[in-house]
Parts: sequence; C-alpha cells; structure tokens
Amino acid sequence: MTDQQIRRAVCPGSFDPVTAGHVDIFVRAAALYDEVVVAILHNPAKVGTFTVEERIGFIERALPEAIASCVRVEAFAGRLLVDVCREVGAEVLLKGLRGETDYAYEVPMALMNRHLSGVETVFLPGAPQFEHVSSSLVKEVARFGGDVSGLVPDEVRDALLARGDGGR
Ligand code: PNS
Repeated sequence: MTDQQIRRAVCPGSFDPVTAGHVDIFVRAAALYDEVVVAILHNPAKVGTFTVEERIGFIERALPEAIASCVRVEAFAGRLLVDVCREVGAEVLLKGLRGETDYAYEVPMALMNRHLSGVETVFLPGAPQFEHVSSSLVKEVARFGGDVSGLVPDEVRDALLARGDGGR
C-alpha cells in the first residue's frame, strides 16, 4: 500500500490525562482506519496537569497490544489541528461524543475545521459505561480522594494518587 492509499484518522485532544473512554475510541478508530494518529494538542481553555511527555507515555502504555502497531501517539505544539491533519496525511478527524454537552462543544470545532481545510470530523458515540467520564471530572474526584479505578488506566490512577493533589 502506498502512503496515499493508507486511510488515516487523527484522534485529537488534550488527553490530560487519557481516560478509559478515550482508549475505547482509539480501539474503535483502529477498527475503521488503517492508521490512527492520536494527536495531543494545546487547548487554550485548559491549564495542563501532566506534561506532554507524561500524557504520551500514559496513552502508549494503555493501548491494547492488538492495535498498538497501527496507532501512533504524537504531540503537536503551537499548531492548528487542520495543519496537523495535512502534515500527517489524515483524511478525517475522529472523536467520541458523550451527549448533548459534547455535541454543543464539538460541532462548532468540526465546522470550523471543515471551513479551514475541508477536513471532515467523524463522531463515534461514547460507550455508555464511560458516558460520565472526562479527564477533568476524574481529576476532581481523585483530588478529593474518590476512587477512579476503571475510569482511567491503572497507571494514570496511580499517578493521580501519587500527586496528592489528584491532578489540580
Ligand atoms: O480534549 P480537548 O481539550 O477537548 O481537545 C481540544 C483540542 C485540543 C482538539 C482543540 O483545542 C484544538 O484543536 N486545539 C488546536 C488548535 C486549533 O486547531 N484550534 C481550532 C479548533 S476549531
């Protein structure tokens, strides 16, 4: 297969940190596309908790072995998402949608990205068991001593516990 024939999707996000819901989306994306690029980008509305290197490591080690060879994880600093898609040769953006709040947040971004470069966004419905799981809620729960087992990879849970502040 030539590089042009490879069907590549970008799964973008802050992933600060990756959750079990994100991993579910990566697995499902890998079943639909030849290659998946998990792209860590800067969200100007969010203050970072984990370093970009930590986030990359958490994701790489959380990927099931069956998909590890077709998923790559990369950080793209100071760049528009549409430029990342062009750079890696991705035909679509792929994201999980958890419900109405996500819809209201994601659709303007999807339309803006299409306006900027024509790239389309494919949405997969979030798995029901992870509907309530977001990086920020998990951090809040961990900060006040709640158990986040099963909501994030075990390594992420342990890292949140080790921080003491739960990832403020
Ligand atoms: O996981 P998040 O924080 O919801 O992901 C948002 C993210 C990082 C994908 C978005 O902020 C983004 O695309 N940032 C890169 C800059 C950019 O292209 N902004 C215009 C988006 S329409």
